[in-house]
Amino acid sequence: MTCPANHPKLNPTVRVTVTGAAGNIGYSLLFRLASGAVFGPDTPVQLQLLERDNPNSAKVLKGVCMELFDCAFPLLTGIKTTSDPKEAFDGAKAVFLVGAAPRGAGQTRADLITTNGPIFKTQGEAINAAADRNVKVLVVGNPCNTNAYICYHHAPDIARKNFTAMMRLDQNRSIAQLAAKTGKPVCSVQGAAVWGNHSKTMYADIERCTIAGVPAFDLVDQDWYHDFFLPTVADRGTAIIQARGKSSAASAASAAIDHMHDWWLGSNGRIVTMAVPSDGSYGVPEGLVCGFPVICTGNGEYEIVKGIELSKEGKERLEKSVKQLEEEAEHVKALI
Ligand code: NAD
Ligand code: LMR
Repeated sequence: MTCPANHPKLNPTVRVTVTGAAGNIGYSLLFRLASGAVFGPDTPVQLQLLERDNPNSAKVLKGVCMELFDCAFPLLTGIKTTSDPKEAFDGAKAVFLVGAAPRGAGQTRADLITTNGPIFKTQGEAINAAADRNVKVLVVGNPCNTNAYICYHHAPDIARKNFTAMMRLDQNRSIAQLAAKTGKPVCSVQGAAVWGNHSKTMYADIERCTIAGVPAFDLVDQDWYHDFFLPTVADRGTAIIQARGKSSAASAASAAIDHMHDWWLGSNGRIVTMAVPSDGSYGVPEGLVCGFPVICTGNGEYEIVKGIELSKEGKERLEKSVKQLEEEAEHVKALI
């Protein structure tokens, strides 16, 4: 990487806010952000890290900052830590809303809404007050779709489409399973997308997916798809919690990097999954934050892929997941 001091045409520094910076995911995410993995080798970043106002969070965050410093990342121009949301979002152009309680064994992600929902009201208000008007927000904290829905309602001065939630991890899990099953490289798997809610009801769609140019359903059979693939992808978060005793962190951070990278720089014509406020496409009620196949056009924008003919099963699965999003929206009515 060229030293920024000698770089002929460096882009302006991007202020990036990460909440929950002292947590599990933060520990993987921050180092990759500071290395240039999201905004590219020509764009310096300033990290603005938000944590809860308590001595333990402050102590851990101090240690994380010491390690960031020790990495001597050429693109990292500064680190600010705070427990004041407005300070954290000041001038931010990219925001990762990670700070929220993770679920424990036996809980569903929706069970977290009472604890986590109010965080996204406060942070939506602070983003509205302090962030750049074209800020790009990625909600990771669960239940991420409904938290993003709460958040944008409290940021009326910022375009709703700028609030997204993370379902890229579900897409990455799908791709990894398909590559392992067929023995093909992960990069040869194209067009896999995950629709609906980041929950057990998600629809991991491979109807239009190709693997090394061959339709996925010519390489994997329906029994494997129904009996192994769908439940494995839908329950992967639970399986990781059972194995690690903590929820996914490095893979979640990696998916967050992929999501923001493609949104910022473009997905090169590839279909990727983002949970975004519905524009009414595919019968999903307007405003619900739903996983869709999108294409990121390279100018910080994305478009929901239109005109897909879902199978009868696909439609039914999407309807079921959307019904759950509607129930969650009803549940958080008092927070809107
Ligand atoms: P963690 O408990 O290790 O870390 C969370 C951090 O957030 C803690 O340091 C905590 O102090 C901080 N925090 C809590 N409330 C805050 C607030 N109001 N402001 C600022 N910071 C706050 O949890 P984790 O493993 O990093 O997971 C974070 C969230 O991400 C969880 O809700 C988890 O379920 C979710 N998650 C989502 C996905 C996804 O695919 N969407 C994947 C993995 C995890
Ligand atoms: C995941 O999918 O790994 C996360 O949403 C964490 C969880 O609770 O499953």
